[in-house]
Amino acid sequence: MLDFELILETIITLFLTLFYIVSGMVKAVLPVSWLPKKDISKDTALVTGAGSGIGRALAISLAKHGCRLVLWDINEEGNEATASEIKRFGGRADTYTVDLSKREDVYKVADQVLSEVGVIDILVNNAGIVTGKTFLHCPDALIEKSMQVNAMAHFWTTKAFLPAMIERDHGHIVSIASTAGLVGVNGLADYCASKFAAVGFMESLCVELNSMHKSIETTSVCTFFVKTGLFDGASTRFPSILPILETDFVVSKITDAILTNQRTLYIPKVIYSLVALKGFLPDKAAMLLQKYTGTANSMDQFTGRQPLKSD
Ligand SMILES: NC(=O)c1ccc[n+]([C@@H]2O[C@H](COP(=O)([O-])OP(=O)(O)OC[C@H]3O[C@@H](n4cnc5c(N)ncnc54)[C@H](O)[C@@H]3O)[C@@H](O)[C@H]2O)c1
Repeated sequence: MLDFELILETIITLFLTLFYIVSGMVKAVLPVSWLPKKDISKDTALVTGAGSGIGRALAISLAKHGCRLVLWDINEEGNEATASEIKRFGGRADTYTVDLSKREDVYKVADQVLSEVGVIDILVNNAGIVTGKTFLHCPDALIEKSMQVNAMAHFWTTKAFLPAMIERDHGHIVSIASTAGLVGVNGLADYCASKFAAVGFMESLCVELNSMHKSIETTSVCTFFVKTGLFDGASTRFPSILPILETDFVVSKITDAILTNQRTLYIPKVIYSLVALKGFLPDKAAMLLQKYTGTANSMDQFTGRQPLKSD
């Protein structure tokens, strides 16, 4: 006997899938200025790693959209400099010095934020470190630190701030991961593992929130190299296709993704095609392409930043 409920559900699912594919394609080609954007001017946003690079520029961008900012970094001086820049144009910013590699420190400072500032509407897990060593040359302590800062800190900040978002049915969690969270890279084993974890966490969290019927948004950002200094020395073979990106460009894309509730953002756009190729190419062909595009050797001349205070 035919199960009419199942047939009906299958037809609806096929129809909606087609609808979402078409609307996704339309959204992808429309200029962002045509898309509806949410108002974040009454929101409080917390950005980790706000003391430099993407975190600083994103904090400034969110402040320019009216958000009150809570800035977290291990680098007190850099964090204060970001706050000064925000205050210069009349924005509000509170700074907190925190070591994200230490769970107890994260929880302690999160409690402080909740009592001193209040609930967080937009949480941006951005802080990150890179060791840039081949796996066997990577000291155990640095492997652990990569996992703690780039991945596990996301668990602790989310545990600290998500409950109030759920209670108010309002919030947005953003993860600044990396294209290294989508494809393995030579010389980045620990970094890739931590970024794959960050991407996996966001994907699962999104499904979990969806099944709870909560209006809490998630945005997972996977960007190629950005000129912040973190990846100094890393290279690209075909800069016209895979350029080393300007920080302001990346931050404007992330801001747009937040304002339009975009769940995944790959920068530059060619990454969408490369990830799709990875999904169906035989392993040997994928390896050959990685070698040809230079991504297999992009870390050969890596110098990176001076050691962080946390090292
Ligand atoms: N720059 C790139 O090419 C690139 C590419 C892809 C993804 N990303 C990711 O973007 C994010 C931002 O990177 P960026 O390029 O702006 O680097 P950045 O070094 O300029 O900024 C990282 C910030 O994190 C802070 N930080 C490091 N360890 C910390 C800790 N234990 N506790 C608290 N704060 C800590 C640093 O002090 C710094 O201010 C990172 O997660 C990085 O992995 C960067």
